Amino acid sequence: MRILLASSEVQPYSKSGGLADMVGGLAKALAKAGHQVGVVTPLYRGIREKFPALRLLDWRFDMLLGADRVQGGVSVLEPADNLTIYFVEQPQFFDRRNLYQENGVDYADNAARFIFFSKCVANLARYLPWRPEIVHVHDWQVGVVPMLMLDQHRRDGWSTAPPMCLTIHNLAYQGNFPRATYALTNLPDDYFHPGGAEFYGGLNCLKAGIVYADALTTVSPRYAREITTELFGCGLDGMLRARQSALTGILNGVDDEEWRTTGNPFLPHAYSVRNLRGKAADKLELQKELGLPMSADVPLFGTVTRLVGQKGVHLLLGALEEMLAADMQFVLLGSGDAPFENAFQELARRHPRKVAVKIGFNLGLSHRIEAGCDFYLMPSVFEPCGLNQMYSLRYGTVPIVRVTGGLDDSVIDPAEDEARADGIKFAEPSVRALAKAIRKALVLFSDRPLLQHFRRNGMQEDFSVERMADEYARVYRRLRAR
Ligand code: ADP
Ligand code: GLC
Repeated sequence: MRILLASSEVQPYSKSGGLADMVGGLAKALAKAGHQVGVVTPLYRGIREKFPALRLLDWRFDMLLGADRVQGGVSVLEPADNLTIYFVEQPQFFDRRNLYQENGVDYADNAARFIFFSKCVANLARYLPWRPEIVHVHDWQVGVVPMLMLDQHRRDGWSTAPPMCLTIHNLAYQGNFPRATYALTNLPDDYFHPGGAEFYGGLNCLKAGIVYADALTTVSPRYAREITTELFGCGLDGMLRARQSALTGILNGVDDEEWRTTGNPFLPHAYSVRNLRGKAADKLELQKELGLPMSADVPLFGTVTRLVGQKGVHLLLGALEEMLAADMQFVLLGSGDAPFENAFQELARRHPRKVAVKIGFNLGLSHRIEAGCDFYLMPSVFEPCGLNQMYSLRYGTVPIVRVTGGLDDSVIDPAEDEARADGIKFAEPSVRALAKAIRKALVLFSDRPLLQHFRRNGMQEDFSVERMADEYARVYRRLRAR
């Protein structure tokens, strides 16, 4: 099939979270399976310098954006057979320090930036000479693409417009903007009503995608069920229930060219399921790197995370407060809400021999934490899929997760299946329940053979991107057959 993907972040070019990993992995896996794949993404600052093979295409965008006209260009990269990345160039919009915000404040023109980008996606979908048969968009930033394409199909002579799929990576981020921003779409008001792109009087970009895409997917089976309930629906559960027959949950895969324990340039020592000695050495290196006492015998807990409410950061702070009396160490790499950043730094100041905290974004250190820790903490309040628990399983690090979304779908607790157990789960979103799970981990740590059993189980789980790509191809085929 010929498939065009669109996303505001794609690994290895840009990343703020798991969206980038998922789209990067899916594109590669689809191309490897023989499909022709294009990916449209913004040309952010620094990409050109890092990827000098980037080649300017003879392609100009000249888009109406409300009352203005905005121009842009396209550069391409062909990182693998069957795979082309299309970078939309618009320096005023995309040549900035960050992707979406600075100092915790969203860029004021995010609606203009991503509606412009969405128009470019629709333009490429329509005019690329290889004629994409499926257009697959990801998250709110490209949520209006299906609506733009549908309008061109209805009113502008695009009779062969291909079917469209929207993947929801996180329903909590919807791209809500004031009513006036709808004018940036330059569409008639036909689409602006409560059964369309309108949400309580404003424009909701994700909702536009939910209403107008032909197929909807989200990133785990359990989250697909959760988002049709009021508790997890973020105000869109009614619309999602109305579209339930179009909605599929597909668990994300792990790109094992990026996330591997052998031949990984970020890891000082390699290891494998047959020989875990390198993992023990990576633990000591990590303790050294972070200035903690080097000891194989102290259980090391870690996490790499955006510091936001979704991730259960308040539970983590509360449980650590209680558990740090025990003989254990904890490392955190993360950035996000300032009060959370401060609270963790304060914790590290009070427990310098037990707690190490790095605020910032650091890809290499994220690998070393996944590999060097004994346990990985992920007490999310909700979690569409979650990749870090899967990375830690792959790295032989036992995840401690709350029973929600993709965390539930990817981790096996001994209470579910003793033979296949690879992690520790807790259900209640409370400090007490998390502290209890950490206590279970301490017991597990003292039982070496059982700990190795958990590790080996996790390392052998199949979270391949090939499986994920197969499931998406099935969705595409169903769409094409209609
Ligand atoms: P989400 O997308 O909700 O943040 P995921 O678990 O799906 O959660 O993916 C998060 C991704 O972002 C992982 O690859 C994780 O390693 C990475 N990540 C998050 N914070 C940081 C950070 N401070 N430094 C490096 N990588 C990070
Ligand atoms: C979102 C979700 C996360 C998921 C990622 C990739 O950022 O918060 O759970 O793993 O997208 O799909």
